[in-house]
Amino acid sequence: MEEQNEPGKEITNSITTSQEVEEAVQHLNNPVTDLKPIVKQYLGSVQKVITEGNRFFFADGSARVEVRVVSDEIIRVRLAPHGVFLDDFSYAVPVVDQKVTTFKLEELDEYYAVSTNTITCKIRKSDFAISFTENQSQMVMSEDASPMHWEENVEFGGYYVYATKKCQAEENFFGLGDKSGNMNLRGRHFQNWNTDAYSFGWDQDPLYRTIPFYVGVHDKAAYGIFFDNTFRSYFDFGKEDNSKTSFWADGGELQYYYIHGPHLMDVVKRYQTLTGTHPMPPKWALGYHQCRWSYYPEKKVKEIAEGFRSRNIPCDAIYLDIDYMDGYRCFTWNKTHFPDPKRMIKELANDGFKTVVMIDPGIKVDDNYWVFKEGKENNYFCRRSDDYFMEGHVWPGRCQFPDFTNPNVREWWGNLYKELVDMGVAGVWNDMNEPAVFGSGTFPNDVRHNYDGYRGSHRKAHNVYGMQMVRSTYDGLKKLMRNKRPFTITRAGYSGMQRYGCVWTGDNVASWEHLKIGNIQCQRMSVSGVPFCGTDIGGFSGEPDAELFTRWIQLGTFSPFMRAHSAGDTSEREPWSFGEPYTSINRTYIELRYRLLPYLYSVFWEHHRYGFPILRPLVMLEQENISNSFRQDEFTFGDKILVCPVLEQGATSRKVYLPKGMWVNFWTHEVLTGESEHNIEAPLDHMPLFVRAGSVIPEYPVMQYVGEKDIDEVLLNVYFSDYEVNSFLFEDHGDTFAYEQDIYSEKKFSVKGSQFGLTIEQSRDGLYTPNYELYNYNIVGLPFNVNKITVDDKEITDYVLDDRNCLRFKSNKNFIIIKIYS
Ligand code: GLC
Repeated sequence: MEEQNEPGKEITNSITTSQEVEEAVQHLNNPVTDLKPIVKQYLGSVQKVITEGNRFFFADGSARVEVRVVSDEIIRVRLAPHGVFLDDFSYAVPVVDQKVTTFKLEELDEYYAVSTNTITCKIRKSDFAISFTENQSQMVMSEDASPMHWEENVEFGGYYVYATKKCQAEENFFGLGDKSGNMNLRGRHFQNWNTDAYSFGWDQDPLYRTIPFYVGVHDKAAYGIFFDNTFRSYFDFGKEDNSKTSFWADGGELQYYYIHGPHLMDVVKRYQTLTGTHPMPPKWALGYHQCRWSYYPEKKVKEIAEGFRSRNIPCDAIYLDIDYMDGYRCFTWNKTHFPDPKRMIKELANDGFKTVVMIDPGIKVDDNYWVFKEGKENNYFCRRSDDYFMEGHVWPGRCQFPDFTNPNVREWWGNLYKELVDMGVAGVWNDMNEPAVFGSGTFPNDVRHNYDGYRGSHRKAHNVYGMQMVRSTYDGLKKLMRNKRPFTITRAGYSGMQRYGCVWTGDNVASWEHLKIGNIQCQRMSVSGVPFCGTDIGGFSGEPDAELFTRWIQLGTFSPFMRAHSAGDTSEREPWSFGEPYTSINRTYIELRYRLLPYLYSVFWEHHRYGFPILRPLVMLEQENISNSFRQDEFTFGDKILVCPVLEQGATSRKVYLPKGMWVNFWTHEVLTGESEHNIEAPLDHMPLFVRAGSVIPEYPVMQYVGEKDIDEVLLNVYFSDYEVNSFLFEDHGDTFAYEQDIYSEKKFSVKGSQFGLTIEQSRDGLYTPNYELYNYNIVGLPFNVNKITVDDKEITDYVLDDRNCLRFKSNKNFIIIKIYS
């Protein structure tokens, strides 16, 4: 069978000569598909049909296809070229079947049809060509251009597997997670093979993560395809042939989910029901994080911390990159630079800073090093097909690498964090887990992996290695922190990685082009199921000038993960490094992040609980309008705040497209009509931001770190509108999993206005009661003079119109209905 440990071939235990390094790199860059004549094999006609509950098997005599009804809107297709399916195991989809009300199989003249209430999957009897149709509109959403096929893999066993769909003339494509370049994937070709892509470029591919999920939009409707295959995979969106969209892989099974829309948002939410959402992060993780390769010794770390506090620039986390370790040995400390880490971490914590540390997968080969010894004794390190250990050079020198696809290894690794947790470390940053190896790029193909008992080579495990590493970190921390929410970051990952941690986009560059790349990248990650994402603010390599850094801080204020980071050979990169006026502007935006924290946290909850993406590209707001309104540089954070970052050097204004509805300029309170373009002033201290009319945007007082002060009252900014708009405020303890037992408070505000007045209604859900008692209202944009205000029918007279013409008053937080009369 394929993907058992392949027999040894051309194996040497370490790569030494530069020629060998070159050959290895070439081998990695040239997938085997390029080297062999292609003999593609197709299915015959359908000879036999078997039904087993929600699974339907169609056979041509030897090959079989399984069509499985997952839910009303999701159907999975699998192909077994010789009739035997591979083990049904996926790291991405823990549970396949969801709730499905009714489904049926029908035989028609030319087809078999498996249908749910919503969609129908047709299998053509003559050749197994598959199509998906929406029942109501009878619109064909996705259709094979040629039936699925395969090719024997003579070198490794198993098959190359292929699917080719029709690409409609007006069809556009989104998703695929970690890709650089334009948001629309149409006309491009991609490869998924997790890669350490230092200083990547605009169209460079592949990058660090693999998310083989895309959304197609045509005829104003959207559908998704999730090709759950961890091997090196490929996607072509009408590049090779303008009328075809194809995806294929170097091994594994042709297995994909069709996910129905018709809205892009539906597709993303349904993809999220398969692969999971991000757990609620500790609230502090939504604050500002300061990182650098590396802050050391202790004195420097303290100086940075003091730098924030003395300048009143909020910050929640300080990072220790690899230099805190002893010779880059993970789970050790350099005692010269950090003589008493526990004390230091405590002192930082007293000052409101969380300490986050780097942990890499490469373990130094050193018999005097306990981690190496434990891994060796327990046989936890990856081996090659000839049974030698997989060795490669990374930061510590010669290293071996834990097999994170082995559950025992994950358990062990998770427990290794004990000492760090006992010292007070609050978060862990997993890097280099593509896995990256100096010289050769990554592991050779023949490295063997446990793959949770479904053993296979590195060809199968490569793309999940990083995800399994951060899974082990997350699970370990969760246990060690006694169910406090862990904070983890990973560089590499595969679909479903969002269940275990947040991501940053890797080693970017301090350039305006990278500001644009990062803006699109985070949006794309968000619609690909990975919501908690950020860039290295300022750029990792190279030197940003003051303007670029400030514009990046502004964009970063609305990145779900907000962290500045830079390489060690660059100049200092703290929010104050560029002097005035930049320091003050940077402070204003970081403060804005803290003011908006209750909103950001509520948006996170909407993601966690309901699967909404955090960042929503404009195309998601107006998919029916893609061609004429589609600007890829704007997005909404949640559904209430439209962010229009300034991405051009020297710009003092920018064109902004406002989607449907009424929008209020966050800075000036000017009300503008949507579905139109506007030229908006954008001097350096001003990033255009708009709030959807009718929104309630909650604000906390500015704090230097999350939890610095007790909150006495919450500011509710209410933006007038004459149509009804609902908003949420989610609050809870902020660092436990009590929300899983409904210990949270979810408030819904419904705002509706007219020329006669404005009403705000509140409803509540959940078992948590916040400590504060009062709401402080700031009603923006009232088009009438106020005559009377009632809170639950009791008139209040204590109100003012402030100097910005906003109505200000307070009420108890438990009101049910507020009425403002003209
Ligand atoms: C990698 C990471 C970077 C880190 C560096 C040193 O390049 O991507 O963020 O600072 O390694 O650990």
